[in-house]
Amino acid sequence: MNMLMTNRTVATLLLSLALLTGCGETEVTVDGRWYSPSQVVNGKALFADNCAECHGASAEGTRNWQTPGADGAYPPPPLNGLGHAWHHPLKGLKRAIQQGGVSLGGSMPGFEGKLSDADIEALISFFQSQWPAMTYQAWLDRGGLR
Ligand code: HEC
Repeated sequence: MNMLMTNRTVATLLLSLALLTGCGETEVTVDGRWYSPSQVVNGKALFADNCAECHGASAEGTRNWQTPGADGAYPPPPLNGLGHAWHHPLKGLKRAIQQGGVSLGGSMPGFEGKLSDADIEALISFFQSQWPAMTYQAWLDRGGLR
């Protein structure tokens, strides 16, 4: 190693290398949130394929999501920060997506076995990327990452 290289230069080089190789630990996050830009990009595509038909292309949900339909089932809620998805910690959101709502009297299908853990995390990062800073902070304060 060239002695003229400062620690800072070394750190910068290592960081660029990590970014180039997509190394998980030092990957950049979005505004200090738990996810990376690439997760959001993957999540967006996965969302379009698996979730948008019910939750809407931007996770905006349905208009009357708080009113059950004639069959007693609730319409798909928004996931973009306007619903109550932010009341669930990351683990709870994962579980909701894996198991769906049918066993709880709802109508959402479960995606366990169909989508990997990484897919599900990407999906969550996509809809969380729509949450305003205040909502994300409220989620953290409630123990979102615990
Ligand atoms: C067939 C329609 C449908 C599809 C497809 C669907 N959902 Fe849902 N989702 C619902 C409904 C309806 C609910 C409300 C609970 C219930 O009825 O099961 C819900 C609830 C949720 C919740 C809990 C929200 C809250 O506020 O508690 C999350 C998170 C969620 N869905 C994420 C997803 C993701 C991510 C996908 C795609 C992988 C997806 N959903 C696909 C209909 C759907």
